Amino acid sequence: MKILVIQGPNLNILGHRDPRIYGPMTLDQIHANMQEFAKQNNFAIDFFQSNFEGEIIDKIQECIGGEYQGIIINPGAYSHTSIAIADALASAGVPAVEVHLSNLFAREDFRKTSYTGAVCGGVISGFGAMGYHLALISILQIINEIKALKDAQEKAQKANV
Ligand code: DQA
Repeated sequence: MKILVIQGPNLNILGHRDPRIYGPMTLDQIHANMQEFAKQNNFAIDFFQSNFEGEIIDKIQECIGGEYQGIIINPGAYSHTSIAIADALASAGVPAVEVHLSNLFAREDFRKTSYTGAVCGGVISGFGAMGYHLALISILQIINEIKALKDAQEKAQKANV
């Protein structure tokens, strides 16, 4: 199993960027922790970061009929503006979980809307770097639930034949 982790604009400067809001960890440190969890649980992760909306959309489109079973995404400020990324996520054909380091609901009003979060299985917000760990657990659970549903449907179909 392979999960795709997508990090949006300005997340490449975590550690330097307002640590009181986003915490002290760098993106590399967060990814190293995720990689460790993946290794312990026998699945693979690819990491992708971009400051460009179109590149993020291209990456999401790689999921269509591709090697990934799920997406974890922090679209950064694009969460609040990008219908295009939301459309791409809705068409990816795999489930997604959105992560925000900060608690969007405790911040400016413009951060309280997430177009991208609305098309994800769920949104994790306000738990800092731990949010990525929670997102891994969540996406694995969602993938298992989808598989169980498919298996049950196949079984029911076979029984009806
Ligand atoms: C963020 C929240 C966004 O509002 C902000 O623009 C970011 C980071 C978060 O992880 O808390 O870039 O996505």
